[in-house]
Amino acid sequence: MLAAPTLFITEPITTDRLVLRTYEERDLDDLYDMQSRPEVARYLYWGPRTRPEVAESLAQKVAATHILMEGDIVSLAVTAKAGGPVIGDLTLRYVSAAHAHAEIGYLFHPEAQGKGLATEAARVLIDLAFTRLKAHRVSAALDARNTRSAALLHRLGLRREAHLVENEWVKGEWTDEVVYAVLEGEWPAGEAPLGAP
Ligand SMILES: CC(C)(COP(=O)(O)OP(=O)(O)OC[C@H]1O[C@@H](n2cnc3c(N)ncnc32)[C@H](O)[C@@H]1OP(=O)(O)O)[C@@H](O)C(=O)NCCC(=O)NCCS
Repeated sequence: MLAAPTLFITEPITTDRLVLRTYEERDLDDLYDMQSRPEVARYLYWGPRTRPEVAESLAQKVAATHILMEGDIVSLAVTAKAGGPVIGDLTLRYVSAAHAHAEIGYLFHPEAQGKGLATEAARVLIDLAFTRLKAHRVSAALDARNTRSAALLHRLGLRREAHLVENEWVKGEWTDEVVYAVLEGEWPAGEAPLGAP
């Protein structure tokens, strides 16, 4: 049996406008500035987070530098190439080795939104999943009301595969979940036109 692929983030990854790197202890203020905002946490399972909760989250992110087995997560902090604070948070989760399935997650500071930066960063996560983790399928799951997240996935060329009606109880209410995905043979997908998914 072949060994499952592994992924170690040892160097920062650069894109046209961004640097994606592993988290450091000094990122607490920047992470707090994102995770404590109600508008950022609106469609997530958690938050808005208090400072101690953010410190706990940061400790997990600092350790999340590699994937050795299914269930492992890589967390990346995003900064502008020109420098400055952390403006985005990325997650790559190795959901299943048997099914070669990875899942992406992303969150950006409101001031960094509306510029295509999240799309630019999420593309790297999908590249990592296919090239380094040898994924067959990459997916993303979101609250069906999260239209900005859906638009991002549509821009990247992911397919809307499922709309699960009231399948989760989140923050005191039943919520619909939407699933997007792309297969290895479909990637890199062409840029979808801007607009509604
Ligand atoms: C989901 C989230 C990351 C999307 O952020 P976003 O800013 O909408 O996405 P992008 O950075 O790709 O920016 C896209 C916007 O920039 C515009 N844009 C400008 N330049 C662009 C470029 N070069 N490429 C692509 N889009 C560009 C697009 O037209 C689009 O504008 P619109 O919102 O008016 O349609 C953000 O809403 C967020 O962090 N939400 C809170 C956390 C969250 O819900 N995460 C997802 C959980 S599933």
